[in-house]
Amino acid sequence: MRVSSLPSPVVLIEESRLLANLDTMAERAAAQGVRLRPHTKTHKSVDLARMQLDRGAHGITVAKVGEAEVFAASGFDDIRLAYVTLGADKWNRLLKLEKGGVRISFCVDTPEGARAVAAHYHEAGRRARVLLEIDTGYHRCGIRWDATALEDFVRELSGMDGLELIGILTHAGNAYYGPRRMSDERVGDQSAEETREEALRRVGREERDRMLDVAVRLAEAGVIPAPDGPTGTGSDFEISIGSTPSLRYFENVTRGGFRITEIRPGNYVFHDATQVGLGVAPYSACALTVRATVISKHRNPDGSERLFLDAGKKVLTSDGAFGHEGFGVLLYNERDMSPLPHHTISALSEEHGWLRVRGGSTLSVGDTVRLVPNHACVVVNTQRYLYLVEGEEVLDTWAVSAQGRVV
Ligand SMILES: Cc1ncc(COP(=O)(O)O)c(C=O)c1O
Repeated sequence: MRVSSLPSPVVLIEESRLLANLDTMAERAAAQGVRLRPHTKTHKSVDLARMQLDRGAHGITVAKVGEAEVFAASGFDDIRLAYVTLGADKWNRLLKLEKGGVRISFCVDTPEGARAVAAHYHEAGRRARVLLEIDTGYHRCGIRWDATALEDFVRELSGMDGLELIGILTHAGNAYYGPRRMSDERVGDQSAEETREEALRRVGREERDRMLDVAVRLAEAGVIPAPDGPTGTGSDFEISIGSTPSLRYFENVTRGGFRITEIRPGNYVFHDATQVGLGVAPYSACALTVRATVISKHRNPDGSERLFLDAGKKVLTSDGAFGHEGFGVLLYNERDMSPLPHHTISALSEEHGWLRVRGGSTLSVGDTVRLVPNHACVVVNTQRYLYLVEGEEVLDTWAVSAQGRVV
């Protein structure tokens, strides 16, 4: 089958770029001595998750219980919910998966939440395998890495009958903020910015170092086991970090015998305009594109033109991208992934992408376009299928098996 015979709009995955992305991250994990547990919320696809395991991934990450159920039903037996999972209905569903032989773990980040988990699992005669979520600077969930209450909290966790504390976990979502303005005296000029690389390195370093500091503090307080030797071998306490941008320059280090044990990137399989804007990847590493059709074209009184695509908010979503104007980047050439100049997806309605063009557009009604979306992970969740392609050839159709599993 040819790409031109697919319906429009459609989401395409370029196989060669996908494989290169998978290999790059697998090699980074191996080189840094960490286990790769990819976050499958990006692709929600059983087929793609299998490719990740085939390339050496150690289990998978999900956010929601519904996602865990989908992957478990397809034979995945080591699933970590990188998510504070709360509520008796959710724990019962996880207990069911565990009884079916799936190794499940999830996050806690408050004493009251942890106590509720412990009571529920104790009642069920089981111990929940939990990781304490640490806030290393994103300020979403997690107890702050520098909180004075940390040792007492972990002491309490370790004493709970229905819990087994297996490690700590963080998500450095602040890596998505990009370079910050330097307002300190060292720079002098208030408007000077970090480079994109400096920003990625800073957040990555903070994520890694703050997690290792937490582990060292906890071991020094005697509330988690100390690692056996100076290299940390022998310690099975898990230290789980990693987003696609914060891992861009990741290098593992040893602190007090602890090392990072696991990384959980998700977006790296596809990349998107956000990763390009942050300097994480070039367009040529973007494996996911949306193919859409120009359904209408009109000239404005000022001579500019407006064109309409058959992909709106319900395909592209309304996420913006760091360093980009508009809602996705149109490509001039999908083989070399060069962007089409002067064309901006300036607005979206539910089913229309509003394309603004200074001067005249080379595109006509009926033409198809390819674009790199701002945020690939949310685009995938709008689709029932992803099409694996190489150039103009369609190689496979993948179900988005966990589409819409947000409960
Ligand atoms: C808890 C958690 N871990 C890992 C990831 C993966 O991050 P990324 O998609 O940037 O690789 C995310 C992304 O949202 C996340 O929320």
